[in-house]
Amino acid sequence: MTTAIDLRPITGSFGADVHGIDLSLPLDGSTTAAIEAAFAEHMVLAFRGQELTVDQLEAFALQFGTFGDTPFITPIDGHPNVLAVIREAEEAGALFGGSWHSDWSFQSAPPSATILYGHEVPQAGGDTVFTNQYLAYETLSNGMKRMLDGVNAIHSAQRSYGPQGVFGRPDPSAAMHIQGGEEALTTQVHPIVRTHAVTGRKLLFVNDVYTIGIQDMNEPESKALLGYLFEHSKQVSFLCRVRWEPGTVTMWDNRCVQHHAINDYPGQRREMYRVTLAGEVPV
Ligand code: SIN
Repeated sequence: MTTAIDLRPITGSFGADVHGIDLSLPLDGSTTAAIEAAFAEHMVLAFRGQELTVDQLEAFALQFGTFGDTPFITPIDGHPNVLAVIREAEEAGALFGGSWHSDWSFQSAPPSATILYGHEVPQAGGDTVFTNQYLAYETLSNGMKRMLDGVNAIHSAQRSYGPQGVFGRPDPSAAMHIQGGEEALTTQVHPIVRTHAVTGRKLLFVNDVYTIGIQDMNEPESKALLGYLFEHSKQVSFLCRVRWEPGTVTMWDNRCVQHHAINDYPGQRREMYRVTLAGEVPV
């Protein structure tokens, strides 16, 4: 049995606000099942009006899986699976999460879900935007679908966390302690067209930040094809934008969305807490 939950779609294609559930308390089995069903359908759930300690955020997450590995960023003291995603009002460097990506797609089994809790959010600005990678796949021509079938893309953290990457050197003025290094140069291949482990639907599993090439193609070919797929994924009708309120917990399906934090709040502070849930090897 599942409990009916108060879901309010954010767009016509995906994303929903969720009201009336207190995530600080353990969920009963039917509410967990209802959230899982809503998650499979809407891909991005924004639970409004929450007030969570870090322990409660962890406990909420663990009702849906186990924690994923979190490389390159120092987690908060005593909570090895929780990142503080903080930007101070005066910070001017690159924004963490400020380009299109899906979390840690360079891992062999990237996270299935990411959960981000807005503790302090700008009055306006600092939204997070998502793409619908099911729609990105489904709207390709049959010819393009045939061409991509069985083709692997190469993923790597090098552009972000490699020695020459955006976060390759520690920035003493940044609130987040990000430590890149040579280990970010390693690569991982994943199918470009992935089948979602829960819904069985096909989706386009590439992202601008971590997908750096296509297996068995030269650089100009990879660049042209990936450039097309990246742009195709960002059509306005494939997007969902979450406007944060203090106490919003957003949980997104990292397998079938890309996301992008918007850097439009200079002079305001933003403090979020993030965990990921372990995912499957993409097939
Ligand atoms: C992230 O990429 O995980 C951060 C997203 C955000 O800060 O909105």
